[in-house]
Amino acid sequence: MRIRAALLFFCFSLTCAATGGGAPAAVATEQKVTSNGLALTPPMGWSSWNNFAENINETLLMETIDAMATNGMRDAGYQYINLDDGWQHYKGNRRDHPLEADPVKFPHGIRYLSDYAHSKGLKLGIYSGPGQMTCAGYTGSEGHEKEDAALFASWGIDHLKYDSCCSHKDAPKAVVQAIFGTMSKALLAQKHGIVFHACHCGWSDIWEWAAGLGINHWRIGQDISDDFDYPGNREGYYFDILDMIDRGVGLEKYAGPGHWNDYDMMVVGLKGKSADLVGAGASNVEYRTHFSLWAMVNSPLLASADLRHLDSDTLETLTNTEIIALNQDPLGKPAQRVRSAGGLEVFAKELADGSMAVALLNRGSPTADMTFNVHKDFNLPWTRYQVRDLWRHKDLGIYDIPYTAEVISHEARVFRISEIKADR
Ligand code: GLA
Repeated sequence: MRIRAALLFFCFSLTCAATGGGAPAAVATEQKVTSNGLALTPPMGWSSWNNFAENINETLLMETIDAMATNGMRDAGYQYINLDDGWQHYKGNRRDHPLEADPVKFPHGIRYLSDYAHSKGLKLGIYSGPGQMTCAGYTGSEGHEKEDAALFASWGIDHLKYDSCCSHKDAPKAVVQAIFGTMSKALLAQKHGIVFHACHCGWSDIWEWAAGLGINHWRIGQDISDDFDYPGNREGYYFDILDMIDRGVGLEKYAGPGHWNDYDMMVVGLKGKSADLVGAGASNVEYRTHFSLWAMVNSPLLASADLRHLDSDTLETLTNTEIIALNQDPLGKPAQRVRSAGGLEVFAKELADGSMAVALLNRGSPTADMTFNVHKDFNLPWTRYQVRDLWRHKDLGIYDIPYTAEVISHEARVFRISEIKADR
């Protein structure tokens, strides 16, 4: 597996200094950075990695931009087209090679692509990392952070994924903060705003300090696999969809406008056919559950299936604007898991207009009747409330008793509930 192999080659200079008796804490205290004011709602877009890995090029990217601009995704709120690892020219240590785009894959360069994305009302993201090499072995940004941030800005880049490749698991937090803080500071010095994603496998309690360093989103776990509920972790490493949801429980309080828990790129629609990502695929119901839960917890919504060839179920899932509205709600409050018993779970979140979003998740096999009680589950004083089903796009009526719905195996029924005031 590419990631773990890459770790063997890693040595960040800050850490090497630290383990050799340097003073990383002093470095970290210099990392005073402020927010860039971006990503006030979770970034929505597409990333190349899950489906294409290193097999990316200008034609694929331009066709993907065209697809997003015309298939309803842009109108539903998707903005970012993110190049992941593999856009770079050289493999090997940065000290031996410059950072530049592969001239065969990207013959007109990256600025050309970002101009194209911008001309279609979209944005372009790019990928690098704080080591000598990235996870797939391309040149990283170590020691060249200012230069690279300026390069990305000059290319009109709008989003940077900066990937530690799961290294530094047990390093002092100050070391990891210095690593990400150095790039964050370099990005903040650019006139062009660049959303900053710190990809660090959910280690070093990154959610506790990332926002303070100007980081807009951070991965909460290792890489996702294209599975709904694989027993254990594939290859002892990957998290399936339910693992990722479990991983986020308790982390909700760290997210808010401008700084989000990132549950990883979505696998919606991959169907076990990705050239690179492991996993057996999931059913359409399971992919809907995945999309619903990512929306409920305010994860970035980064699709990764081939946008040029989406089937109608996948496109319908990705463009459900009533579900997307929960993710993009201006209050920016991630859902909490308010109840969990026997594989039946209730998630809920407040929305800016005073309504609530509720997801009833059935992790088990038998179909279940699931009930929520607005008083007991959500501590609401409401006497009457309206229920809207966000997958069936239907108002289901007004209730003054607990609401019960039938939920099939692996489904999440998602509702928006609103108080009916006494004078109405
Ligand atoms: C790591 C990341 C992935 C992807 C690859 C690229 O595994 O977690 O999301 O960016 O690196 O090499």
